[in-house]
Amino acid sequence: MGVLHKLESFVKAGAAGDDEFRAAVLSGLARHPKTLEPKFFYDERGSQLFDAITELEEYYPTRAETAALESHAAEIAAFVGRGASLVEFGSGSSVKTRLLLENLAGLRCYVPIDISGAHLQAAAERLAADYALPVIPVHADYTGAFALPDVVPAAGRLGFFPGSTIGNFDPPAAVAFLRRARDLLGPGARFLVGADLQKDAARLVAAYDDAQGVTAAFNLNLLRRINRELAGDFDLAAFRHEARYDPELGRIEMHLVSRAAQQVTIAGHSFSFAAGESIHTENSYKYTLESFADLARQGGWRSEAQWLDPEGLFSLHGLVAD
Ligand code: TRP
Repeated sequence: MGVLHKLESFVKAGAAGDDEFRAAVLSGLARHPKTLEPKFFYDERGSQLFDAITELEEYYPTRAETAALESHAAEIAAFVGRGASLVEFGSGSSVKTRLLLENLAGLRCYVPIDISGAHLQAAAERLAADYALPVIPVHADYTGAFALPDVVPAAGRLGFFPGSTIGNFDPPAAVAFLRRARDLLGPGARFLVGADLQKDAARLVAAYDDAQGVTAAFNLNLLRRINRELAGDFDLAAFRHEARYDPELGRIEMHLVSRAAQQVTIAGHSFSFAAGESIHTENSYKYTLESFADLARQGGWRSEAQWLDPEGLFSLHGLVAD
């Protein structure tokens, strides 16, 4: 039904290459404390595990954000107005996008941006088959600079950044991202951004450490990817997943904790781990309505409206470029 633009034409938008992965892993593990960047979670298997996380009982953000989009659909459509070009950062399987595609009037095109090329192409094909809309997939790493193809109309761009993915940046990086997004989307842009809300620690920790161990498998998959792509020899059984909440910083931290003292070799480089030493793999910052509006302001956006799910767990901000 819709027009599907070919991914190959846009691949040069700046997705992370193999050399970047290698350099990032070697430098991150040489640091104290050891860190790995979360954008490397999303290989084929990582993208699949992430989709499974979004369906977990404990992982409330996906359901809550979907409920916010559904219960405020008319107000969100009024905020956006007619004839926008929808640009989504980190589109993944584009599940929530369908709610926007069904509720927004006169959309000009849909531009999904994702770091995982295969996942992006598959999702774009499904959407182009289901909606009468040009779908223009952009294979890019949105944590850095990139451009949109010229076929995307310059006026009336609507950004969409759901999933509280903005919480995976620390606040200065989130501000830098918001500024780049404002430049990319242009004057007069609007931006729908999902931000998870602060709440009791037990509920938060459970969302990042589910009983079935899917989140643990997702976190540990990063070591599997290093083994496969960088000739690593991580013993996955020698590390365990841990989620902690730091109420001062308002963030969940994900770690891979070494169960024993051990040596690991990656691409010919050796790294030693003490027993109990961790690799910090991700943060997920939790906001209040005020603290997120303040962050947005620093990034050059005004939070004009906020929509919550009926339980008040999750917020969706309607931002206007300042
Ligand atoms: N943006 C999501 C979040 O912070 C990403 C996420 C959810 C995630 N669950 C995860 C990342 C588990 C790593 C592991 O909530």
